This record gives sequence, structure tokens and C-alpha cells, in this order.
Amino acid sequence: MLSLIYLIGSVTFIVGLKMLSNPATARKGNAIAAGGMALAILGTIFLYRHNGHGLHNYGWIITGLVVGGVIGLISARRVKMTAMPEMVSLFNGMGGACAALISVVEFEYMAGTLADIPNVHGQLGIIFAGMIIGAVSFAGSVIAWGKLNGRIRDISFQGQHIVNLSVLAVIMLLTLFVTVTLPSATVALFATVLVLSLVYGIFFVLPIGGADMPVVISLLNSFTGVAAACGGFLYNNPVMLTGGILVGSAGTILTILMCKAMNRSLKNVLIGAFGGAKAGGVTREQGAYKEIGLSDTAVVMAYAHKVMIVPGYGLAVAQAQHACHELETLLEARGVEVRYAIHPVAGRMPGHMNVLLAEADVPYDKLLEMEQANGQFNTTDVVLILGANDVVNPAAKSDPSSPIYGMPILEVENARSVIVNKRSMKPGYAGIENDLFFQPKTSMLFGDAKQVLQQLVAEIVNSL
Ligand code: TAP
Repeated sequence: MLSLIYLIGSVTFIVGLKMLSNPATARKGNAIAAGGMALAILGTIFLYRHNGHGLHNYGWIITGLVVGGVIGLISARRVKMTAMPEMVSLFNGMGGACAALISVVEFEYMAGTLADIPNVHGQLGIIFAGMIIGAVSFAGSVIAWGKLNGRIRDISFQGQHIVNLSVLAVIMLLTLFVTVTLPSATVALFATVLVLSLVYGIFFVLPIGGADMPVVISLLNSFTGVAAACGGFLYNNPVMLTGGILVGSAGTILTILMCKAMNRSLKNVLIGAFGGAKAGGVTREQGAYKEIGLSDTAVVMAYAHKVMIVPGYGLAVAQAQHACHELETLLEARGVEVRYAIHPVAGRMPGHMNVLLAEADVPYDKLLEMEQANGQFNTTDVVLILGANDVVNPAAKSDPSSPIYGMPILEVENARSVIVNKRSMKPGYAGIENDLFFQPKTSMLFGDAKQVLQQLVAEIVNSL
């Protein structure tokens, strides 16, 4: 029965993950995978048998489930969309800690009788791997969480990468020494490796530019998956193994995709200090920019044939998705064709804009991926950029010295006119100026995205 439950659990993870790749099925996919996980947990609690005995510490297990479940539920309900990467990071850290604790418990269980255990070297190897990867993921995720909410700043010093590599080398050597030779001081060495792994997790994330955290979190997420898979090997538990492998590979693929969409190597993300305190970029004299008022914007948009909205991080900050949908519905009712151009790394997390717009019930078929949108800008009358900056910066195509050079962008300058809404002339995530704002086709519409959109809607309703 338990084997069957584990099989069902594994299948729900695979099906759920597949469904997550499409916005229309994502919610259901998440529920299916969560259902499978719940089934696997309940099955383990009530049906697991070891030497004919079931579990006995139900009080602890149920208390843990209730406390964790309530904290998870409340924080997931309360979290703001812009704080989502923070929460993912913290939850991921808890997963890493769980995987490390499994290794600690199993090690303690084995420690006294190492010599009598069959295949002891292999078992110890898995225990150490789970502990090291889990501890690195836990410590790194907590630092990433602190950086994202501003509690921890980027800290780096000369030769930090050499120190990091040295700590990693000591961890590897000690692990090899213990698993191969089974010395008498195994417990002390295990504890040393655990502490060094936590230190490595902290040192690994500390110097990385604060704004690169989403990529790092995705990488740490894949670490947690691998650590959980080690637990699956240890317990010969297929559902843990499948879940761990899926998280490990999905996290790795996501990390690669994010790096690709930013045209940066993982190495550059990990040691580039990009977008952090040291974020650079050339600031030059850009000339003058043109401003546009609300009533002119309302007229230009209401009388256009086709409008393309480009959402960015600022739309999420302003929580302007509902006002944006209202403007879109209003324009469509007047016969204007409205589409959204979605850049793969707009915002601060994968799929940020899709999630944001889905929250406001924007139909999925109005969302165009970057390649599709780029094919349509030359037939677009007005592009309305809402709190986006880097993803429309032409320096990515034209300035080899720019830190974002080579990143594919939305080619909005091919449209007839471009209106940019943001609060000031300040740069975005990459910390660089944007030539687009100074081009003759571009007009700046300053203000908070939500307020501007609400005023635009009122202007169109009342005056046109
Ligand atoms: P950004 O380049 O960060 O620009 C956002 C702009 O929004 C800012 O220039 C800001 O200008 C404006 N803004 C902020 N609050 C606003 C508000 N309340 N109302 C109106 N505007 C507001 O954003 P983007 O174009 O979406 O690009 C995303 C960047 O993040 C890329 O460089 C990408 O590589 C990076 N990144 C993305 C991810 C993922 S997976 N999405 C992960 C890591 C890094 P003002 O301050 O002047 O208002």
C-alpha cells in the first residue's frame, strides 16, 4: 500500500510540474503536486513499518505539521508579490535545513556501530553529501533572504573567492577522510564539516550582488533538491528521491534560463557583484528628454489602433496590475487592440509579470512572449512602458561596454511612439542609463504607475 502511495506521489509531482509550465494549468498543477505530497506524508506517518513496528512519536509529528503548516499558510497568504523571492528563499532554506537534519539524525543513529554496518562507506558518503548540501543551502538561503529584505548588505573582501574555495576543499578532504578511513574521531569531524558547510553557505552568498539573489535562490533551490534526493537514497524512499531530483533539475534549468535571458554566465552572476553596491555602468550626458501629460497620453492611446503595454518591476512595486487591466478593458471597449509584451526577466523573479497580470485576470492570450512581441512592434501605434527599464534598454544591442550588452530586449523603438511611465530618471536594476528615454519617439510620463493608470482611466472615461 505504501509503495503504491509513493508511486502515486511521484506521478503527481511529475504531472504537477508539467502543468506548472502553462499559466492556464499552473494552479491545478500546484494543487495536484501538493495533494501527492500530502498523501505521501500521511502514508509515511500511518503505514510505515520498521521491523514490524510503526511510528510512535505521533504527538511530535502532528505538532510539527500543525505549527509548520500554520506558519506556512499565514505567511503565504500575507506575502506581497514583490516579497515573493524573499519568501521562496526562506522556505527553500527550511528545506535545506530539513535535509541536513535528516543526515544529522541518521549519522547519530549509525555513529556507535559504524564497523558493523554493511556498505558503510557508501551510506556515510550519502549522509555527508545530504548534510553538506543541505547546510550550504540553508545558510545561503537565509543570507539571500536577509539581502533581499535589506537586513544584510553585500560584503566582500580581497581574495574572498580563494577563501571560499579553500573552505570547500577542506570540507571535501575531511569528508573523504572520514568516509574512507572511519577514524575514531568521526563525530567531531562530522560536526566540523557541518559547521564549515554553514560557513561556506554564508561566504558563498555574501559577496553576490543583492539584485542577483533570484538567480542564486534558484541555484540554492536546486541544491536543496539534491540534498533531499540524498535522503531518498538513504531511506530507499522513491517519492523523496523523485521530488528531490525534480527540484534539483528544475532549479538548475531555471538558473540556466535566467542567466541566458540576462545574457550572463553563472560565473558572472556568482562573482560579478552585478546590480549590488558596486553596480556600475557608464553615466554619460544624455541630452534632453520629452515629457507628456496625462490628457495627451489619454488622447494618444484612446485613438490608437494598437497599443502594446510593457510591464516591468515598477508595475509590481506600485501594485498597479488591476488599474492596468482596467485601462486595457476600457481601451478595448473603444476598439483599440491591446497586447502585453512580456520579457522573460522583467520584474525580479521568473514569471513575475505573468503572475502579476493573472492576479488581475488579464486573459493569457493577450500576453505575448518577447519574440512574438518583437515581431509586432512595427505595427504598433503606442507602446506604454509601465515601470520597466532594463528590458527595453537599447544599449543591450548597441553598446558593447554596457553590463547588459547581449541581453535580448523588447525592441519597442520599432513602434510609432513610446510612452514611458516611471517616477524619475533613476536607473533600474542594472544601474545604468537608458538611451530610449532620450529618443525623439519617446515621451516620459512621470508618476507612480498605479496613480498614473487610475488618472488615465478617469481621463478617458470623463473627457473622451
Ligand atoms: P528595472 O530595470 O529594475 O526597472 C524598473 C523601473 O521601475 C525603475 O527604473 C523604476 O524607476 C521604476 N519604478 C519603480 N517603482 C515604480 C512605481 N511605483 N511606479 C512606476 N515606476 C516605478 O525593471 P525591468 O525592466 O523589469 O527589468 C528587470 C531587471 O531585473 C533586469 O535587469 C533583469 O535582468 C533583472 N532580474 C530579473 C530577474 C527575473 S527572473 N525576473 C531576476 C534577477 C534579476 P523609478 O525609480 O524612476 O520609478
